[in-house]
Amino acid sequence: MPSNCCGRSSRGTDASVDAHWHRVAASGDVQGKEPVACQAAGIALALVRLGEEVFAVEDRCPHMAYPLTQGVARDGRLICTWHHWEFDLPDQQRFLQPHCRCTIYPVRENDGAVYVQVDPENLPPPPGGFPRPDLTKSND
Ligand code: FES
Repeated sequence: MPSNCCGRSSRGTDASVDAHWHRVAASGDVQGKEPVACQAAGIALALVRLGEEVFAVEDRCPHMAYPLTQGVARDGRLICTWHHWEFDLPDQQRFLQPHCRCTIYPVRENDGAVYVQVDPENLPPPPGGFPRPDLTKSND
């Protein structure tokens, strides 16, 4: 089982065989300042690379649920572009307001791919307490 936590990347292990790990992107697609949108087990995520590490952040700002995929990564932080809250991704906290936390899932990179661990039976509380949309249901 994986031993990483809180979005820390690890290399050199076969993430594809572990439970609840989902291949969500090619490593080369997660670059630059703009988050990359993806989904794992019905959870919308924003992938952000800070240096060598990739973080998988739930795509809802804990302030007013604005999509963090619309944000920008700068100086080690993910910035929500609606009201400019800044999140230090390694510790999930809002800069200068630590009780406000975004939701981050464990990440691994392996063989040029990004994997995110999402266990739909054991999800963390939704960011800001806002209900999560059910992305597993169709809109038909
Ligand atoms: S919704 Fe993100 S800062 Fe307000």
